Amino acid sequence: MLNIGVLVSGGGSNLQAIIDDCENGEIKGNIKVVISNKEDAFGLERARKHNIRAVFEKNEDKVIKILKEENVDLVVLAGYLKIISPKFISEFENKMMNIHPSLIPSFCGDGFYGEKVHQAVIDYGAKVSGATVHFVNEEVDGGAIILQEAVPVYFEDTAEDIQKRVLVEEHKMLPRAIDLISRGKVEIIDGRVNILK
Ligand code: GRF
Repeated sequence: MLNIGVLVSGGGSNLQAIIDDCENGEIKGNIKVVISNKEDAFGLERARKHNIRAVFEKNEDKVIKILKEENVDLVVLAGYLKIISPKFISEFENKMMNIHPSLIPSFCGDGFYGEKVHQAVIDYGAKVSGATVHFVNEEVDGGAIILQEAVPVYFEDTAEDIQKRVLVEEHKMLPRAIDLISRGKVEIIDGRVNILK
């Protein structure tokens, strides 16, 4: 069983997808703790409803301490709107993943979060967008890519339309990436991910 720690700042629909797949056995994992830097994050409420430890904590050293005391093997950033320090990253090297709502390396990096990402896709006139699950390294949205899924972008789309379409894919791919890790199917070679058969 993989011990999972999830960090959220908002609604936590991706967290819900992970909770559901842990409960129905699709993922051989246990969410040990959900931590948020926002006291009113609905993600904390979702965790409590499922009897998962839910902690509001802004201090990064304390966050690291909690993850360690819960013996977390994998940290999942699921809508965590806080930059992670190099120290935190090195404590969980290759054991921390993030989901970003675009096809990295497009529409990512500093300042690209929430609807801003999808508005930038519209403004540019891109015809596809999507989502990316990747390992976390020192570069914002820059770690090795684990999974990507694309969705079409239509001329009439609003940022919200694209967000909704992308979220449908996110809710499938984030649990899938966790499942691949729990089954030892993800290897990193020269900074690239190989998914083993
Ligand atoms: C998602 O779009 C995710 O890609 C991004 O933040 C959003 C979080 O949504 N990092 P939710 O809180 O999981 O509903």
